Amino acid sequence: MAMVLEKVVPFGRSLDEYQKMFNLTATDFAKPILGVGDGPASFNAEGTKCGCTITSIDPIYEFTGAEIQARFAAVVDDIIAQIEATSDDWIWSYHGSPAELRANREKVLAAFLEDYEIGKQERRYITAELPVLPFESKQFPLALCSHFLFLYSDHFDVEFHIQSIQEILRVADEVRIFPLLTLMLKRSPHLDPVIQYFQKSYDASIQPVDYELQKGGNEMLVIREVIDMS
Ligand SMILES: C[S@@+](CC[C@H](N)C(=O)[O-])C[C@H]1O[C@@H](n2cnc3c(N)ncnc32)[C@H](O)[C@@H]1O
Repeated sequence: MAMVLEKVVPFGRSLDEYQKMFNLTATDFAKPILGVGDGPASFNAEGTKCGCTITSIDPIYEFTGAEIQARFAAVVDDIIAQIEATSDDWIWSYHGSPAELRANREKVLAAFLEDYEIGKQERRYITAELPVLPFESKQFPLALCSHFLFLYSDHFDVEFHIQSIQEILRVADEVRIFPLLTLMLKRSPHLDPVIQYFQKSYDASIQPVDYELQKGGNEMLVIREVIDMS
């Protein structure tokens, strides 16, 4: 399906934020990682510099860096104003203030854009979108999905979530998803049905993480192959 850039909020997070959102350890960073819906995050750019093997997919990668930058410039004032107007709904221990949040997002975008063309040539940024991924079965030990699944629960129904997570688990042994809240800062209504569905064949658990910007949004969902201890 052709993507409409005007519907996207191209706000990206840093490697440090990904580390905290997903409890990533040195063992995790030593594995090839798939970032699903990474958009303009600098996770791939910064991680690659540190020697990690990261593949990011996102429909936004059909656009040029200049187009993504222009979209960011078009929405950033409005989004930061909305956050300032609802400041009590957010936890400022990491970013400090709406102004610093904006500066962080600009820094992340700059790091992403600097890496984008070379990363595309190296097939580290691949244009693709859930619920279909262009990879072989079990190509990745770990997949991460930040600020797409569950967050946009008003736009994507529970069937889309189940189909998408099933597809991620086709190509990866484990998936971690953050946050579990919607844009309205409520726990996603899809969370319980998703857990019930995947618990039949996988280990599925909610785990606390050391990152909270949306108030109450400090948990991730982990779904992985059941490890046979017998
Ligand atoms: C708010 S951004 C999050 C970017 C990044 N994961 C982060 O946390 O910094 C949401 C991203 O989801 C992407 N997206 C939209 N539809 C998607 C789909 N069907 N499959 C995968 N990603 C999608 C958007 O293009 C956008 O880059």
